[in-house]
Amino acid sequence: NSPETKLALTLLIAAPRGFCAGVDRAIEIVERAIDRYGAPVYVRHEIVHNKFVVDGLKEKGAIFVEELDQVPDGAPVVFSAHGVPKSVPAEAEKRGLDYLDATCPLVSKVHRQAERQIEANRHIIFVGHRGHPEVIGTMGQVAAGQMTLVETVADVAALEYTPEDDLAFLTQTTLSVDDTAKIVSALKTRFPQIVGPKAEDICYATSNRQAAVKEIAPGSDLVLVIGASNSSNSLRLVEVSERCGTSAKLISRASDINPAWLDGVGTIGLTAGASAPEQLVREVVEKLSEWRDVEEHTLVTAEEKMVFKLPRQLTE
Ligand code: F3S
Repeated sequence: NSPETKLALTLLIAAPRGFCAGVDRAIEIVERAIDRYGAPVYVRHEIVHNKFVVDGLKEKGAIFVEELDQVPDGAPVVFSAHGVPKSVPAEAEKRGLDYLDATCPLVSKVHRQAERQIEANRHIIFVGHRGHPEVIGTMGQVAAGQMTLVETVADVAALEYTPEDDLAFLTQTTLSVDDTAKIVSALKTRFPQIVGPKAEDICYATSNRQAAVKEIAPGSDLVLVIGASNSSNSLRLVEVSERCGTSAKLISRASDINPAWLDGVGTIGLTAGASAPEQLVREVVEKLSEWRDVEEHTLVTAEEKMVFKLPRQLTE
């Protein structure tokens, strides 16, 4: 295509999108740990759910493993942003490993709430997605049997507790704002005395990114979400767009875009999950510009100024 024959394409870019403060912090922890201890630094689980980020850190000297027993004695190890069950730091201490915890402070906050509810003798109902590392980490803050996972309103209906039982609820940080509101409301209806956070524990970054998609999706023919298929918050962005009636594709990067998707499309919405770097957004804009005459518009729905402190070991 010569530039003259390119069709026009309006690109609606969501803001906020991409990296949140917890992801920024987690990546910086790994980079600083490599500077301080020298390579290799071990990382338990993908530091954040993004291959591009993980590959970049591998090049700098990080080695990614799934379990602590894959970390050799004496090597430094970082725990991922999703958080870990209590047994993990306990095991690291037992082995005398130098560990750094990159758990997002907003996930740690949920961990502390879990401890507090157990101290208050309440059973916890946890709203989350089974198998996600954050869920495994949060459920691992308390003893087996002290926390019950629910994923849907139907799960709430099936709970074998009575309104007289002492119950509390907590939620995963990266859930759908709308689905969680329904689940929490079902919990409050069935168990009027249930104790919980004011709304839920969904983090600012997750809710801001979902609200931003609601702004771009209605005017778009297609929404592209940059993110990984194991990234909970990215998957939720796809759902939000589809519920606005606009089909959405999850892509890991520009090379995933099938040019046929653009047939008959005049406006594309673009966003990125909290673990996807801005570089991948620019790459998508450039790719689309190869095929179309792109006019970019950024729709800002919120300003984010959140910054989290690094662990003391790295700042002293
Ligand atoms: Fe933390 Fe939310 Fe990001 S929990 S890691 S700020 S998506």
